[in-house]
Amino acid sequence: MPDSGRGGGSGEKTSALQAMKGAGEKIAVLTCYDYPTAVWQEEAGVDVIFVADSVGTNMLGYGDEREVTMEDMIHHLKAVRRGVKHAYLLADMPFGSCDTPDAAVENALRFVDLGADGIKLEGYKVEAVEALALRGVDTWAHLGLNPQIHHKRRLQARTAPAAARLVKRARSLQEAGASFLVLELIPEEVGNLVTRRLTIPTIGIAAGRLTDGQVLVVTDVLGMGDREFRHVTRYTDFSVDGREALRRYVADVREGRFPGERHVGHLSAEERASLESGVMEDE
Ligand code: KIV
Repeated sequence: MPDSGRGGGSGEKTSALQAMKGAGEKIAVLTCYDYPTAVWQEEAGVDVIFVADSVGTNMLGYGDEREVTMEDMIHHLKAVRRGVKHAYLLADMPFGSCDTPDAAVENALRFVDLGADGIKLEGYKVEAVEALALRGVDTWAHLGLNPQIHHKRRLQARTAPAAARLVKRARSLQEAGASFLVLELIPEEVGNLVTRRLTIPTIGIAAGRLTDGQVLVVTDVLGMGDREFRHVTRYTDFSVDGREALRRYVADVREGRFPGERHVGHLSAEERASLESGVMEDE
């Protein structure tokens, strides 16, 4: 992200990201669930570090995103916040937290008070977006596949009428005050059309190459999970390297190779002699 000025606040970070759309610069977004990964993402220059509700399935062992609570999100937001210095910090509104505009504002303000620059909410929730924008909360809408709403993971907006409906909804959300729009699992042509029709940046995940930015799940990028997705490049294979490292540790402990001489501290010869003579006196 172009330097929006240190401590510039959400408004300046938002303007800097929105200017990237005008300049044709792609926005790089990644999910993040913990402090060390936030530090790595800052170092890598990720523009938007996103505490997503996929924390439930990727980190907490839940079977479904819908099990994630506000308290889960707050716990992870606090950890990630400690690692973020310059990037825009985005927090996901969990299932059930935006059922009314008032609830959306109340819950979103909890995230903002903890340092989130903006919040993302799934679905076509125009009134909630309006209420959030009125309170000055930077709001990311999310259309296409919405894991909190759709039970099956399959391509959305596959027909011309469905694509036209999505474009219409995207424009209404923009008019309601959304600052960004996430588009998930839609054909590239539809991602392109929405992107061209909106003035706010679009961020795609499995939405083709032509959105203003891309978002991926960090555990997929690092190859931590065992599932393969067509829309993902595994930039490393942590599930292989991590498992191998753990096997070697267990074997080293069992076979006495760990700890080795370089891992241990020693008494000086003098202290050792004194200790030994003291012990002898005690005996
Ligand atoms: O929870 C999630 O991982 C998301 C994606 C859009 C990245 O919302």
